[in-house]
Amino acid sequence: DWIMRDHIEEAVAKIREQVGDEEVILGLSGGVDSSVAAALIHRAIGDQLTCVFVDHGLLRLNEGDMVMDMFEGKLHAKVIRVDASELFLGKLAGVSEPEQKRKIIGGLFVDVFKAEAAKLKAGTAGHKGATFLAQGTIYPDVIESGGAKSKKAVTIKSHHNVGGLPEQLGLKLLEPLRDLFKDEVRELGVALGLPAEMVYRHPFPGPGLGVRILGEVKKEYADLLRRADAIFIEELRNFKDEATGKTWYDLTSQAFTVFLPVKSVGVMGDGRTYDYVVALRAVQTSDFMTADWAELPYALLKKVSSRIINEVRGINRVTYDVSSKPPATIEWE
Ligand code: XMP
Repeated sequence: DWIMRDHIEEAVAKIREQVGDEEVILGLSGGVDSSVAAALIHRAIGDQLTCVFVDHGLLRLNEGDMVMDMFEGKLHAKVIRVDASELFLGKLAGVSEPEQKRKIIGGLFVDVFKAEAAKLKAGTAGHKGATFLAQGTIYPDVIESGGAKSKKAVTIKSHHNVGGLPEQLGLKLLEPLRDLFKDEVRELGVALGLPAEMVYRHPFPGPGLGVRILGEVKKEYADLLRRADAIFIEELRNFKDEATGKTWYDLTSQAFTVFLPVKSVGVMGDGRTYDYVVALRAVQTSDFMTADWAELPYALLKKVSSRIINEVRGINRVTYDVSSKPPATIEWE
């Protein structure tokens, strides 16, 4: 639409004016905010932007490839993909306490990103270094960091974020989404040509599957979880609610699969199985501070359960989480 096109023109002009002929680094996570920021800045300054995508090995099925296909393949943006999965899995080995896991993942993420950003800042022979760090900060983030969060007495979960990085790196900050609400960021993303499926995705936590595998994180668990979760999400997108015509993916605020590192007995064909359990989690919420578990249709749960058990060898039991927040949280860790 025309209003959005004007808005893009204005934002593009502002970025060009601010950046001039300098170089910009952006941390791309595959989430909505960093993706829209990348698409917008790329529209404005093209190859003066370099995206750094740190793959911690705790992403969903094919997620890393999808990010690369979109930004490098379709938008022709410069993207450096850092495959740090072995580093993350190595440091997580033997660690099962949720807060400790969160701190390891968050800390390593910052280290890996900083190392990459420092190289880009230094530049190479014949190529000057970057002077800006772009972030997908949106208006609600600006408000949140202003007060409410710091007043909270108890930390339930230490959130993974990258506050303070520009100062530490000695880079100037570029935040083109700072005045926008989430809905506006999504509309902007669609207007910039990002697929609606990407822009309207459920939120995904920074520590990724690291907080959806209970206890110790192992590659074997992550691989099983990725496949089970992909089936759940696929069926949520397939099943439509008759009354509204919407898919169950769109009718839920967040839905995912949790890996439980316990084994239970099952039977398959003539044989006994002794395999892992997963829990499906789907919630409806307006602010993620409180949430109700979603009353998914039985037909959908039945399909997901039978597909996971038949298609993912190693999982023989599927459960559905019927806990609301509070007292449960949305993620299990
Ligand atoms: P909980 O589990 O606290 O989650 O009810 C509330 C919302 O926050 C998301 N979440 C995170 N998001 N970094 C993030 O960016 C994190 O470390 C993190 N931990 C939880 C969670 O997915 C839900 O949407």
